[in-house]
Amino acid sequence: METKIWVFCSTLFLCSIALHAHNLQTYIIQLHPQGFTSSSFTSKLQWHRSFLQNIISSEETPSSRLLYSYRSAMEGFAAQLSELEVESLRNLPDVIAIRPDRRLEIHTTHSYKFLGLHLGREGAWFKSRYGHGSIIGVLDTGIWPESPSFDDRWMPQVPKKWKGICQEGQDFNSSNWNQLRSAQRELELVYVKDGDTGSEYCFPGSLPEAKVHGRMVVCDRGVNARAEKGQIVKEAGGAAMILANTEINQEDNSVDVHVLPATVIGYAESVRLKSYMNSTRRPSARIEFGGTVIGKSRAPAVAQFSSRGPSLTDPSILKPDIVAPGVNIIAAWPQNLGPSGLPEDTRRVNFTVMSGTSMACPHVSGLAALVHAAYPKWSPAAIKSALMTTADVTDHFKKPIMDGNKPAGVFSVGAGHVNPERAVNPGLLYDIRPDEYITYLCTLGYTRSEIFTITHKNVSCREILQKNRGFSLNYPSISVIFKHGQTGRMIERRLTNVGGPNSVYSVEIMAPEGVKVRVKPRRLAFKYTNQSLSYKVWFVSKKMTETKTTYAEGHLIWVNSHNFYRVRSPLSVTWA
Ligand SMILES: *[C@@H]1O[C@H](CO)[C@@H](O)[C@H](O)[C@H]1NC(C)=O
Ligand SMILES: *[C@@H]1O[C@H](CO)[C@@H](O)[C@H](O)[C@H]1NC(C)=O
Ligand SMILES: *[C@@H]1O[C@H](CO)[C@@H](O)[C@H](O)[C@H]1NC(C)=O
Ligand SMILES: *[C@@H]1O[C@H](CO)[C@@H](O)[C@H](O)[C@H]1NC(C)=O
Ligand SMILES: *[C@@H]1O[C@H](CO)[C@@H](O)[C@H](O)[C@H]1NC(C)=O
Repeated sequence: METKIWVFCSTLFLCSIALHAHNLQTYIIQLHPQGFTSSSFTSKLQWHRSFLQNIISSEETPSSRLLYSYRSAMEGFAAQLSELEVESLRNLPDVIAIRPDRRLEIHTTHSYKFLGLHLGREGAWFKSRYGHGSIIGVLDTGIWPESPSFDDRWMPQVPKKWKGICQEGQDFNSSNWNQLRSAQRELELVYVKDGDTGSEYCFPGSLPEAKVHGRMVVCDRGVNARAEKGQIVKEAGGAAMILANTEINQEDNSVDVHVLPATVIGYAESVRLKSYMNSTRRPSARIEFGGTVIGKSRAPAVAQFSSRGPSLTDPSILKPDIVAPGVNIIAAWPQNLGPSGLPEDTRRVNFTVMSGTSMACPHVSGLAALVHAAYPKWSPAAIKSALMTTADVTDHFKKPIMDGNKPAGVFSVGAGHVNPERAVNPGLLYDIRPDEYITYLCTLGYTRSEIFTITHKNVSCREILQKNRGFSLNYPSISVIFKHGQTGRMIERRLTNVGGPNSVYSVEIMAPEGVKVRVKPRRLAFKYTNQSLSYKVWFVSKKMTETKTTYAEGHLIWVNSHNFYRVRSPLSVTWA
């Protein structure tokens, strides 16, 4: 044994002179704890040094390479070594593992970074002084003011104009989070398909304990709630769950909090899994965490559950307006409910992963607050216009934003995905004055008393409509409806210049299929900041109204002479 090491070291000696100067890397060397007891060394440090002594050239001292000598969490040391030295170290007794010291990237994404916001002395955050002075109201199912998300440490004083009350925090009892055991060991796999009991969906009361006890259970998606399936498996003694997408859900990947180790698989994978289970007598599986992968899939994309237009209340306003991050967002969670939302779940957490409008809306509200802080005098309509006309219609790969397996249409993506860096510098605005909303309510056929409940003003819609023939609300998107037999429609819009003086814009149009679009004037020359100019758009249908309702879409963009500002409005045409 000794001779072998010696021979190895002498060859190494020659190589290391040439190598070590440039190619040293930091490694963490884990040793067998028993090694020290059976050695003749009097201190751990000496013992650790002896490994280096064995592999480095005699011209160097082990201390010049040793970085740390560990004694608490692990037996071993950290040292700077060349690749060849690592190889010889591997052959020494008591060496269990040698790990290169790597720089680790953070394995979470942040929606503010995803939206292009960054810290620094420029950009939307800086420009809006991080929203200083804006107060955001939240209307949702409920709020847990004690949540760390609403912690007001490091926050400036409550603004003087604030008329609400701030409650003092209360202490809440957080209990056991450690119920979860990972399903990393191999488990027997079962998929119970028992007549029409709903057992394939893991329906309450459908899983016989004898079949699922200690096993990993495959449950099809659908019929009952996803987290509930996990609870049913757990109650029947199951050890883990695979939630299998069906043809309806395809590859939809929704993150849920479960009460037992679980994972979700896409439809294609679920077909393969079931055919594997058919092919063997004792199918088995284990769940392994594969790590977080960032930037591989196309994003942003419209979620399957996202609400779609057209608006049933008023199809003349194109809906939705805009899209924002709302899938698998880490969000504040109350302390009176477990993270799965199930009454049986006694775990307590401050945050959990959630999806929906309640997650997307706060992103847009926050961005509206930033625009408001940057331009405190802008109206709500102006802020909305800034967010809409600057939204992105392409994803991070510069390809169209997708909705499932097809490019997203205006009724799923609206003006596009919010882009705060552009929204704080929109160039032009579609503003709306309060009296224009009243005219709009009149065009919708609201009665005097209905309008009174909203505006606290007595108005005569008859007079208003007489004065405003052909009125269209100055909205940042355009929706045109050809009712039976109609072939032409005219829409008017008014733009306000919030860029520099002497700004000249020209129009780019992508006409919806089957429609001729004419804009007049095609060029808008703003002499001053704050100046407003109007334009008209004529839509002429080239086809006859069909028996069923059909749609087409396009866009209209006002582009300034440097192509810096691109003020974009989506268009939709409906033959009703
Ligand atoms: C914490 O809450 C749990 C569940 O509500 C309860 O059983 C437990 O007694 C509480 N513990 C303390 C220390 O209050
Ligand atoms: C599994 O086998 C059963 C019975 O042979 C068959 O009905 C079923 O379609 C098979 N499933 C799959 C996914 O191959
Ligand atoms: C939740 O947040 C509160 C307030 O910051 C803190 O006291 C509590 O320990 C947190 N609970 C958990 C489970 O982290
Ligand atoms: C509005 O009109 C009603 C009846 O015409 C009248 O009773 C009421 O006082 C008016 N309100 C205001 C605020 O002018
Ligand atoms: C534009 O109008 C706003 C609000 O009316 C005003 O505060 C601002 O000073 C005006 N800007 C210029 C350049 O006239």
